[in-house]
Order: sequence, then C-alpha cells, then structure tokens
Amino acid sequence: MHSTYFTAGPSQLYPSYQKHLVDAMDKQLGSVNHRSETFRAIYRHTDEQLRILLDIPSTHGIFFAASATEIWERILLNCVAEHSFHLTNGAFSKKFYDIALALNKNAIDFQVEDGKGFDLQQIHIPKETELICTTQNETSTGVMIPDQDLKLIKKTHPNTMLCCDLVSIAPYSKIDYTLMDSSFFSVQKAFGMPPGLGVWIANEQCLNKALQLQASGKNIGGHHTLASYWTNYRKFETPCTPNVMAIYILGKIAEDMNHLGVDTIRAEIDAKASMIYHFAEQAKNFTPFVQLPEHRSQTVAVLQTKIPSADIINTLKTKQVCVSSGYGIHKANQIRIANFPATNLSDMGHLLEILTDIDHA
Ligand SMILES: Cc1ncc(COP(=O)(O)O)c(C=O)c1O
Repeated sequence: MHSTYFTAGPSQLYPSYQKHLVDAMDKQLGSVNHRSETFRAIYRHTDEQLRILLDIPSTHGIFFAASATEIWERILLNCVAEHSFHLTNGAFSKKFYDIALALNKNAIDFQVEDGKGFDLQQIHIPKETELICTTQNETSTGVMIPDQDLKLIKKTHPNTMLCCDLVSIAPYSKIDYTLMDSSFFSVQKAFGMPPGLGVWIANEQCLNKALQLQASGKNIGGHHTLASYWTNYRKFETPCTPNVMAIYILGKIAEDMNHLGVDTIRAEIDAKASMIYHFAEQAKNFTPFVQLPEHRSQTVAVLQTKIPSADIINTLKTKQVCVSSGYGIHKANQIRIANFPATNLSDMGHLLEILTDIDHA
C-alpha cells in the first residue's frame, strides 16, 4: 500500500506526476537533444506556464539549475561584489549566509531566534548593501515572512537588489515579482516532483550587475553565469545539458495548476493550514512552534511535541503516513508537516485523526 508523504521535501508527488512521466517516456524525452526545436518548445511551454502561475513579468528570465543550493551560490557570485545582507531565522537562511562567507563576501546577517519572525523596525540595512537575501518560508522552523513585509523591504530600499528564497512556498507565495530582483525554488516541495531541478527567476538588473562585475574582473563563476543563462535563454536553450524530463514535467504540472487556478490552490493550502494549527492549539501534547499567527508558515507547519517525535513518526508510518522530524536541535521534540498542493483536505483530515489518537493515548 502506498504512503502519503507530508514530509518537508522530497514530499508527496503531485497527482498528475506519474501520467506526465509516462508521457515523457512515450515521447522519448530522455534522449532529446537540448539544442533541438523539441527542447526549445518544452522550455518555452514551461516558461509560459510558470509566468502565468506566478505572474512573472517579462523583465525577468527563468533559468534552470541543479538545486536551490546551487542557485544560492550563483546569485551571490553574480549579484554581489562585496556586500550582502541576510535575514536569518533558521538553518536554510543561515546556509545562504554561510555560502556568502565561503565566497569571501562581506556578508552581514540579522539573526532572530528559531521560531521568531522579523520585526522590520529592528532591521538596519547598511547603505553599501548590494543584495538583501531573504527566505520567505524557513523550512527548518516553519516561520514565514508575510508578502507585505517583503514589499516594504523593497519600498524602503528601492536601490538595493532584493532576492527571496521561495523553495518551500512557491506557488503559494503572492509576492510581487516586479519588486523581487531575484527569487528561486526547487521542485521537490510544493510542485510535487522528485528532487533535482532548481528554478531561478532573475531580472535584467541582476544580469547588468553580473556583466558589470565580470567587466571589472570579478569572478562570477566558471559556468552558469547570468550572462550565459541569458544568452541561451533568448533562444530557449540552456548553457549545459539540462534535466529535460524534469523541465517538461514542471511545465505540465504548472499547466495543471493553472487549470485548477492558483487561487484555488492557495485557498486549499490555507484551509489545510487552519486544520493543522486548530488541532495543535487544542491538543495536550502538541503546540504550534511559531507563536505569532502572522509568522506561521502555511506550507510547512512546525509543531512542538511532548511525545518524542520518533515515536510519533513511527506510529504514523504504521498507518502509511509520513511527516518530518524537527530540524537540527529540534529533531527530537518537533514534527514538521508539509502542506503542499499534492495532498488534499481529506489526506490532511486523515493525518490529523491519527495525531488526535496519538494525543489522546
Ligand atoms: C528554504 C530552503 N532553501 C533552500 C533549500 C535547498 O534546496 P535544495 O536541496 O533543492 O538545494 C531548502 C531545502 O530543503 C530549503 O528548504
């Protein structure tokens, strides 16, 4: 019997994934040349469907990498000569900052405790900052930055480039892409695909910055520079041999999501998130880790638990349901429940029934 994966990623595959995989095999896409018209049509379709789904303006290109981790490094190499500023509130935003340090950038982090969100009044971003790095949904702690806070950061720093990690929130996020110079996600979260494809969205300002850094002799990387991405993108090609099958399936899943309507998808995520937090607020052994409701993630709910998380996870497994443990130091006393589009209200109801039984045992 199949399990249902509420894990933080890789997670449950999108219901139409298997059909698109079979179609891709029937079309022999694994053997298709990436300089062929067949591939260019696939890239064009995926680009078009993602633009519709996320409302991405024509000033931004859409590029493919191996992972979000790769994109962290590419953004810092291509958009920062010296000064990056990072909002860190958990393991993933911290890794973004650590990569900046590893690349010898003069990186500054504004750090808050795990489980806390950011109070914009407290943040001072130095004027020499070239890039502000944010993570809208911190997958390790379940803290979300509200869309309006990201908007306010850009409004108050119009001349500084802003980038946002949307790995575990796209396409739920309603950020205004005209204000976001660069953003990115990986497909193994809310797009319900196996891992191995990162999607990087960047505007012409990022490209200009990369060209300027390159002209001044800065190292912007030996491959996958924004310059090489854009040159190829103009022909719907990629700098190197890409994951053609994944790019094809991503376009098809984005098309399915567009048929359903992104607002419907977001409303279902909101409804399932309310079910999780309502359960945790009533339970004896579970509480939401993030105190302020406006900072609570809608897509990865983190619950503090009095019962060892390993026991909960094992009991759930016997019922073919999988959730993630807490991250890092929170491993033993938290669980993380992914609330992505691949699971529906009835799946979530089933998970919460089992958790209620565990709570009452
Ligand atoms: C918020 C966030 N950023 C970045 C990453 C790294 O993504 P990838 O493993 O696709 O490189 C993750 C992975 O879980 C994540 O949750």
